[in-house]
Amino acid sequence: MAASKIGIDELIEIVSDDGIVRTGVNVYNTKNRLLLSGDYAVSNVNTLLYLKSIGITELSFDPEKNGTIRDKNGEDRLVESNLDNRALSSIESEKLDFTIFSNLNNRLREIHKLKHEAKKAYEGAKQNTIKVIEDIKRTGGEFDYELVENTVMDILSFLTRNENTFSYLTREIFSYDDYLYNHCLNVCIIGTAVTRRFNEHFSSEINKYLSRLYSENSLEHSQVSDTSFLYYLPEDLYDISIGFFLHDVGKVMIPEKILNKKGRLSNEEFEIIKSHSLENGIKILNKNMIKSPFINNIVKYHHSALFKNEGRCYPKDRLHIENPAYVKICKLVDIYDAMTSKRSYKNACNPVAVVTDLFHEYAHKDQMLQFILHSFVNTVGIYPPGSMVFLRDGRMAYIIDSKGPIVMPFTDTHETTLTDQPDPIDLSVMDETEEQLKIDRRKPVISPAEGYNILPSFLKEFIK
Ligand SMILES: [Fe+2]
Ligand SMILES: [Fe+2]
Repeated sequence: MAASKIGIDELIEIVSDDGIVRTGVNVYNTKNRLLLSGDYAVSNVNTLLYLKSIGITELSFDPEKNGTIRDKNGEDRLVESNLDNRALSSIESEKLDFTIFSNLNNRLREIHKLKHEAKKAYEGAKQNTIKVIEDIKRTGGEFDYELVENTVMDILSFLTRNENTFSYLTREIFSYDDYLYNHCLNVCIIGTAVTRRFNEHFSSEINKYLSRLYSENSLEHSQVSDTSFLYYLPEDLYDISIGFFLHDVGKVMIPEKILNKKGRLSNEEFEIIKSHSLENGIKILNKNMIKSPFINNIVKYHHSALFKNEGRCYPKDRLHIENPAYVKICKLVDIYDAMTSKRSYKNACNPVAVVTDLFHEYAHKDQMLQFILHSFVNTVGIYPPGSMVFLRDGRMAYIIDSKGPIVMPFTDTHETTLTDQPDPIDLSVMDETEEQLKIDRRKPVISPAEGYNILPSFLKEFIK
């Protein structure tokens, strides 16, 4: 039988019914990143649901490349060759293809549109998060797992839209009271984005190494697939994202007056806080029959060591080498989110400063950690488009593009709003003599919701 395309719904039905699908054809996104290896036998329906959630409606299937579809009895399922042999399936990804300086207004509209969609997606996810947390409080531990899955699916589908979409999805809502809800979501969103980048980067380095090894042993290159190794499979990534969402689930059982205490915690209070991971967190997972090792590891160990002899970690007897990369990512993102969030007793720190400081503090401690930190910096070490920053000369500026970054100043050096629209500035082309035109990292990033009143009319019209 020749290669063909099969509808994703048909495959979901087969796998849901305990069947197995191996397509024989790798699935990539438009940026040539491997989403599903053709060699991999899919037995968990979440893998296919994930592909569907990011817009894939059909998969290529090639029996000549070992493609197999079997039902629960191990019988081959025949699939009609129903479509022509088009190129591999790909995601319809929205591309921000524009020249900023020649089409500024379109860019501002685009930022606003994405922010608006992000806000809606974030709000929807937050309502679900509130429901999950309220359910746990009410029942003493039980919650609707499907609601968590749906929430994570929504986040994943938004994240896949384009390279930096995640930056639109975070920091939208600042609220003192909603810390736990926002924190669950932020750690899930940022952690997922970092883990994906880490997975691509790490897998590609291993593949390069294997290619070199093969060519040194004079095997023909054509025998070797460049994408034969994938560190985390799509279904692993899905569980990891759920784990990020649930990492602090045990905090629901901690009295709020201890969780939100402004001053220093007593030893006794700290012991109570510590029980949110290994004790309460795991109790809640067990109550809901959540067995995934990814989720369990994240909940248990997201406060344990990143490197040898790290102090103030718990549980103390868990060694850093026992912690998988995704657990370390959870811990880093947890610290990052706590530092960059605004609380009733503290201001938010500048996110790029936080991530750079974390890198300097931890990178030299351990090689693997350094690898993880590179993915972390490359994912979150950017200023989100549509946010506002301070320049070192005291002016405030609106981020037009994270790359550069390209900014548009909108106040003078005394923070007085400008009336005329200035040209955007690409900060990456500034030389040493223009130090004052850099971003002031000591000051936090401001969201448009917070800074709306000081925006000039030429920006407000895009942010209505
Ligand atoms: Fe925690
Ligand atoms: Fe946390």
